[in-house]
Amino acid sequence: MKRQWWHNKTAYQIYPKSFYDSNGDGIGDLPGIIEKLDYLKYLGVDILWLSPIYQSPLADQGYDISDYYQIDPRFGTMEDMDRLIKEAKSRGMYVLMDLVVNHCSDEHEWFKKAMADPEGEYGNFFYLADQKDGRPCNWRSYFGGSVWDPLPGTDKQYLHMFHKKQPDLNWENPKVRQEIYKNIRWWLDKGLSGFRIDAIINIKKALPMQDYPADRADGLCAPDVMLSHAEGIGEFLKEMRDETFRKYDAFTVGEVFNEKPGELEKFIGDDGYFSSMFDFNEHLIGQDPRGSWAAKDVTAEEYKEACFMAQEKVGDVGFYSTLIENHDEARGVSRFLAAQAGKCGRAAEGQCGQGGQDGQSTASQDAAGQCGQEGQDGQGAVKQAEAPAVINSTAKKMLAGLYFMLRGLPFIYQGQEIGMENVHFTSIDEVDDISTRFEYQTALEAGLSPEDALAAVGRSSRDNARTPMQWEDAPHAGFTAGEPWLKENPNYHEINVKAQMGRKDSVLEFYRSLIALRKDEQYQETVVYGALEPYRREQKNLMAYFRKGQGQTLLVLGNFQEEGQLVRLPGKVKAVLLNNLESWEEENGSLWLQGWQFAVLEME
Ligand code: GLC
Ligand code: CA
Repeated sequence: MKRQWWHNKTAYQIYPKSFYDSNGDGIGDLPGIIEKLDYLKYLGVDILWLSPIYQSPLADQGYDISDYYQIDPRFGTMEDMDRLIKEAKSRGMYVLMDLVVNHCSDEHEWFKKAMADPEGEYGNFFYLADQKDGRPCNWRSYFGGSVWDPLPGTDKQYLHMFHKKQPDLNWENPKVRQEIYKNIRWWLDKGLSGFRIDAIINIKKALPMQDYPADRADGLCAPDVMLSHAEGIGEFLKEMRDETFRKYDAFTVGEVFNEKPGELEKFIGDDGYFSSMFDFNEHLIGQDPRGSWAAKDVTAEEYKEACFMAQEKVGDVGFYSTLIENHDEARGVSRFLAAQAGKCGRAAEGQCGQGGQDGQSTASQDAAGQCGQEGQDGQGAVKQAEAPAVINSTAKKMLAGLYFMLRGLPFIYQGQEIGMENVHFTSIDEVDDISTRFEYQTALEAGLSPEDALAAVGRSSRDNARTPMQWEDAPHAGFTAGEPWLKENPNYHEINVKAQMGRKDSVLEFYRSLIALRKDEQYQETVVYGALEPYRREQKNLMAYFRKGQGQTLLVLGNFQEEGQLVRLPGKVKAVLLNNLESWEEENGSLWLQGWQFAVLEME
């Protein structure tokens, strides 16, 4: 594998709308990001990925772009964007934007022109068909309903894999592709370092379009069935790479859920379409074709196996980008620790909120309340039990360490570094996200009561990750001086940046030490490039692996349960590089790990 400038970096995803609001309108913005650059520098991250800030009606929060050359005024101005790139650069940081080119907005001028004249040049920018012939295929959109909707004011219909305000661009048309490449180069010329590439696998449709067996009562089939039949995406991706990114040595990370078996090298090998792609293997665990309401909790063993299988699959072919959450997922700590910790928060707290893990006397301060009984006002007993688990900080640090030390480029999603958790929705009206609203309807149609449906889809809702960033214990978590566009998580009183900065035992400072270890000259070579080898893979709820470099071996250990367990050591410990607890019980070649204990050891 060829070495690249970005391999030893740490990346951080900003969801601008919820990061920091500089002018009190309740919406996070670019000047707000600039104000927080010093905080990001303090954390130690290098690469910043911004979710979309282009001009957009925000039907899907900016993933519906109406002008690829403009900043949406709610986020700021082009001068703000230029300033952000410059300010980041002066701090040694790199800025990535989101590249959303599978579709645009129905308010984009291309689409307006297509509506005005479907037979003209811009009609061919989209997938259009005559209404009179019926739907060309029975594919279901990701956000519910058919992918086909009438093209307003015409006798045509158009295709949208996502929301109906997100018409798919016709990549088969070379003019569309050239327009896209021109825009990518325009941004790279501004000094961007690259892109996160949205929903990219959808650009290639299985043609000619046809029906596939229906998988729900709506008579439609899931979009990924179509994707599994689509051939030839490589031609588009190679062309895009050569006409744009390659000329700039830009970093690109693809949102790729479903490459075909054996295709990984084509995507992220030395000559791959992208620099990297996300390791979503852990995020696919527990999913259910009936809808997100039916998704199962993830166990420690499943999590461990998904990580190891992904690592085996990628080997030395390339670099995955690793993550526990992003703006489309539930909070990682709630999702991956809930099953192990129990549901009510009692189990997660170990001894019922008494801070019972040795050396962790402040754990209960840091976690949001005791026994999950802290007041979500007016909640009856039943609802209380449905509230997301309260996870203690020791467990959060363990999960942080386990994914961070994998081979790959670690991404941190805003708020993850302080251990932000899922939010407890008490009504569907509190949910803004279009995808969650569709999943809620699906749950109702499947026969769930409104309460159960809300609880079920609430666990995986994308809005869990979109609540305002928790800066301090001040109104609206210090995110805005106005009314936030989405309600903040009430646990901000305990979980916030200010309370954790400089506090040695906080989740935030633990993330800082993980990042610092990745930058430490003495260990960087092994942490970044060392081969990964599972250790005692069969030992239940223990996730352990070696990172083996030249003449250096690190052992990463995480006890993925609240009970302690003994682990036999493979040799002599030279140094303990990281430990999320103060206790250390080593005897006769074995180590007693406390509940949720995590450590990185240098072995002799
Ligand atoms: C990606 C984005 C998601 C968006 C979708 C459509 O999955 O991450 O937020 O809704 O694409 O653009
Ligand atoms: Ca604002």
